Amino acid sequence: MSEKKHRSVLMSKWIKTKLLLESNEVRPFIPDTRRFSKSTLKKMLYLYGMVYVKPEKGTYGNGVIRAQILKSGEYAYQIGTTERTFEDFESFYRSICNFTKMKSYLIQKGIHLLKYKKRRFDTRVMVQLNPKGEWETTGLIGRVAHPEKIVTNYHSGGKPMDVKPLLAAHISNREIQKVIRTLKKLGVTTAEYLHKKYPGFRQIGLDIGFDHSWTPWIIEVNTNPDPYIFNKLTDKSMYRKVISYKRAAAKQ
Ligand SMILES: Nc1ncnc2c1ncn2[C@@H]1O[C@H](COP(=O)(O)OP(=O)(O)OP(=O)(O)O)[C@@H](O)[C@H]1O
Ligand SMILES: [Mg+2]
Repeated sequence: MSEKKHRSVLMSKWIKTKLLLESNEVRPFIPDTRRFSKSTLKKMLYLYGMVYVKPEKGTYGNGVIRAQILKSGEYAYQIGTTERTFEDFESFYRSICNFTKMKSYLIQKGIHLLKYKKRRFDTRVMVQLNPKGEWETTGLIGRVAHPEKIVTNYHSGGKPMDVKPLLAAHISNREIQKVIRTLKKLGVTTAEYLHKKYPGFRQIGLDIGFDHSWTPWIIEVNTNPDPYIFNKLTDKSMYRKVISYKRAAAKQ
């Protein structure tokens, strides 16, 4: 398969998810993900209470919807800063379809992302082929959602931040080091596995979120990750490494 074909294949969150589920090592960290349909939406809402409905080929957090059943038994969803509540499933579903009817959508088990100053956050793990030709985690950064939003993407008002203070709001220093090691290792495991299946990329960016169980949930794997997010940190050492590996890879 040509490199171009590889890239187009890996645009689809559905195809990427199915591939990742074939790996015994990666599977435990992939939230249940299915194609959007009325019955699946209902089923997954009853299973998980909260789900994310998102475009199969989305970017920047555009079109991402957070849907849930409230304690009152009502159905609610949020997209952007718009929140809507419905008494019955039918009208809730019809309203969501206004967004999903335009293109292919998926439903994913919702992760109750940990918060920092009342804002949800997740992490971006950058993994690149190093000059020795091995996969290496070169960047790790936290992404804090805009206070009124449900996505952490920079282009949707999210704030890139050093991960340490985000984690320190929940766990000790020693536990932070453990979490960081886990993230780096999971990044490499995922890259090595995916690269065996589809060799047409030299870097991946994993969106990994935590809930109170501290499972590193892989929300998404990007095969064309933005290196410039690392330039938002005061300490430029990560950014310099990410850019130098990217340049070296581009020359090959
Ligand atoms: N299942 C989920 N549980 C909790 N939060 C989620 C979930 N799915 C998505 N999100 C939030 O929404 C953000 C955007 O979702 P996702 O990364 O899947 O799409 P995207 O960012 O639009 O695509 P891309 O990263 O390719 O630009 C995530 O970074 C995360 O903050
Ligand atoms: Mg993403």
